[in-house]
Amino acid sequence: NNIGVIFDLDGVIVDTAKYHFLAWKNLADELGFEFTETHNELLKGVSRVRSLEILLGIGNVTISEEKKQKYLVSKNKDYLDYITKMGPEEILPGAEKLLNTLDDLGIKYVLGSASKNAPLILKQVNLLHRFLGIVDGNSVSKAKPDPEVFLIGAKKLNLPPEKCIVFEDAIAGIEAANKANMISIGVGDKKTLNKANYNFNNLTEIPEHFFEKFLSENNKIK
Ligand code: BG6
Ligand code: MG
Repeated sequence: NNIGVIFDLDGVIVDTAKYHFLAWKNLADELGFEFTETHNELLKGVSRVRSLEILLGIGNVTISEEKKQKYLVSKNKDYLDYITKMGPEEILPGAEKLLNTLDDLGIKYVLGSASKNAPLILKQVNLLHRFLGIVDGNSVSKAKPDPEVFLIGAKKLNLPPEKCIVFEDAIAGIEAANKANMISIGVGDKKTLNKANYNFNNLTEIPEHFFEKFLSENNKIK
């Protein structure tokens, strides 16, 4: 097929943001400052290291490089406690149906996530085998909003960037997709994701014939 799809994972396929929040909150509690759900928005789509820096900024805490490494390990340990209990029931509404639609249309799809835990999460929810390729936090050197993760995704799809459609729930992710010259689809609050080419509140809102339009428009999909 002449178009392909790149999916973000956290917040698009699965609702892992709540587990990231709980794990970061544990750390904030330990360091003695408040960390709210609103603060957590700033961490979405952002790499683990960068998330820690933002968190420490919120608490106005300065610590040694050694301590940082220690906290990165303990945060991920807490996060993994939640992740390893996940099952297919935690796939977000509309996600599986969307993958089925793409399969029916013969449209290839890969994952483009900032998370180093992406393969594990996909395995937990039994979706790993469905993706043609996985680009995750282990395979990129530059985090979103840098387009690297999606450009590698396009290579895996064997398609030029302008033939790729990206599903994202984070501002940094929409920015990355736009920089890569891909079609960006914001999943979530339209006001927050106002730079996206298309917006939906969640994946159940994607119209049934959404992709056919891109297929028939041939070269002019943007
Ligand atoms: C992104 C999340 O998908 O992955 C971020 O939106 C998270 O909140 C990032 O920090 C890195 O995840 P991990 O699993 O490698 O710590
Ligand atoms: Mg996300």
